[in-house]
Amino acid sequence: MPILFTGIKQLLTFAGDNAPRAGAAMRETGLVKNAAVLVDNGLILAAGPRAAVLRHRLAKKAKVVETGGVCLPGFVDSHTHAVFAEPRLKDFSMRTAGASYQEIKAAGGGIISSIGAVRKQPQKAMAAQLAARAEKFLRCGTTTAEVKSGYGLSLEAELKTLRAVREAAKLTRLELVPTLLAAHSVPPEFNGDAQKYLDYVTAEILPKVAAEKLARFTDVFCEKGYFTPEQTKDYLKAAARLGLKTKVHSEQLSNYGGTRAGAAAGAVSADHADHVYAEDIAAMRDAGTIAALLPASNFYLGLAKYPPARELIAEGVPVALATDFNPGTCPCWNMQFVVACACTHCAMTPEEALCAATVNGAWALSMGDRAGSVAPGMQADLAFFEADDYRELAYYFGDSQCAMTVKHGRVVWQKR
Ligand code: NIG
Ligand code: FE
Repeated sequence: MPILFTGIKQLLTFAGDNAPRAGAAMRETGLVKNAAVLVDNGLILAAGPRAAVLRHRLAKKAKVVETGGVCLPGFVDSHTHAVFAEPRLKDFSMRTAGASYQEIKAAGGGIISSIGAVRKQPQKAMAAQLAARAEKFLRCGTTTAEVKSGYGLSLEAELKTLRAVREAAKLTRLELVPTLLAAHSVPPEFNGDAQKYLDYVTAEILPKVAAEKLARFTDVFCEKGYFTPEQTKDYLKAAARLGLKTKVHSEQLSNYGGTRAGAAAGAVSADHADHVYAEDIAAMRDAGTIAALLPASNFYLGLAKYPPARELIAEGVPVALATDFNPGTCPCWNMQFVVACACTHCAMTPEEALCAATVNGAWALSMGDRAGSVAPGMQADLAFFEADDYRELAYYFGDSQCAMTVKHGRVVWQKR
């Protein structure tokens, strides 16, 4: 049966071209006041001014839900490491005592310290844990989340992780987009030989993941002490040859060349971008690579430096925002906090930040043609917030104002 969501004070549709938003287009929210959205069979039938939507022939047959508040496309969180067995509280204590990312790694913490528990965890338990986490995302208005592997770092554990993501997708209404991040760090068995490990990933893990269609994307952490720009480019090209789309963790801790390597390999997004310079920004723009910024991780790490969103937008690079939810550098699943953080720390406007968290997030997952905006024919993925004005979503921070989440046309979470 169709559902008519009505009484919406402000609807931001972000409807527009079938392409990522760049430059001034990032500020085009498609704001409609006193709006309604009509959905059926998981898709949007009509959206816009209430009176116009009511003229749709199915509006009379629809179940009516009076929502009030602000309605957005559901958040599309294009970068998470949501599969991890245990929080990293030892790292946290070290960090609060003043240790840096590199110092924590040198002391045996960091990414590698997550692999022990992940390798031991049965797939079923991993899937159940991820599905339980997915509910937290839904409660905050996120309707799609990318999920990376990368804490297994062996054929068996990486396949198990991605199969757990597939299993979890059947247990939750949150849409999960799997990414292979076997090239996250060099596991201890390889004694620091990054090339030998990458050869193993390329020969053993990538083909199996591609054959079993376990991931839509491949990602790599390009940073000193992890993988070089040359390795990044070759690896991502090998992944692309197997039909996987690509992403890169780049310029997070230093300016190292990962963004340009990713752009040269045709990466859909280059993520973090804290230390990008003009030539990196130009490479992204020219290659059509989206910059996925993760400012909640900067916030959590207590960094003074944030990614240069203003320069990226001025140069015409489409910017997306994501949580980077992970046990080491960002234990936060709330996209509304990311939006607030991007406004206060990256000087993004609320309009740009909400665009980056919805439609551009969808494009960072190569699914902007079906999700991330509110227009006829798009997936009926919606988030409703208790607010009179959409800017309140960037203004009040720390909590979630989400009152109801709709996925594929079904109410999947509602505040009592
Ligand atoms: O995006 N930089 C690499 N990966 C994650 C950190 C993961 C972790 O510390 O467990 C990131 O920040
Ligand atoms: Fe990350």
